[in-house]
Amino acid sequence: MAGRIKTAVLVSGGGTNLQALIDAQADGRIASAEIALVLSNQAGAYALERAARAGIPHETVLRRELGSREAFEARIVSLLEEHGIGLIVLAGFLAILSEDFTRRYDHRILNIHPSLIPSFCGEGYYGLRVHEAALARGVKVTGATVHFVNEIPDGGEIILQKAVPVEAGDTPEVLQRRVMEQAEWQLLPMAVEKVAGKLLAGEERA
Ligand code: GAR
Repeated sequence: MAGRIKTAVLVSGGGTNLQALIDAQADGRIASAEIALVLSNQAGAYALERAARAGIPHETVLRRELGSREAFEARIVSLLEEHGIGLIVLAGFLAILSEDFTRRYDHRILNIHPSLIPSFCGEGYYGLRVHEAALARGVKVTGATVHFVNEIPDGGEIILQKAVPVEAGDTPEVLQRRVMEQAEWQLLPMAVEKVAGKLLAGEERA
């Protein structure tokens, strides 16, 4: 197999999903992708520390410094091109990308969302808010979804999903942790390997 798909991971916060990808690459569960760049839209995000520790190039891109969304995305695109990126993973990246951006990388952007889409998803549903909404609705099962990113927030084709039980007495924090441990940290590396493997196979045929 020729090479690996150079992959960028976009983050905004703690980066536990980034860590799951780094660990999966280290132990061989990810063999078709190489994490070649970590981009944060938040200064000082702990995810950047994780990238540094793993020796992965990392950059911060701040929308408020660049002014418009167009300028913000143009900076991201230039970094992606500079690093030869063929696959993008949104791992707790809390900015919504424009249609121009998602079209440019059609079927090359993955996102992890902490619910079973189409429940508790779309604009305004991110991080702890998703688990608060699930608990408020009283669902007995929740989970995580990895999907392709298109112009509709959380609306792209589903790649993998895993269900996780809600338990009596769960707080949003407890439920968030269970969804991460039982679903997100397993699902995201599996999805990256699946998509990167297909991209590699396609590139070999081309
Ligand atoms: C994760 O639970 C991820 O699924 C969620 O943010 C958290 C980031 O944690 N993403 C969304 O809600 C996207 N709509 P992490 O920084 O520790 O990976």
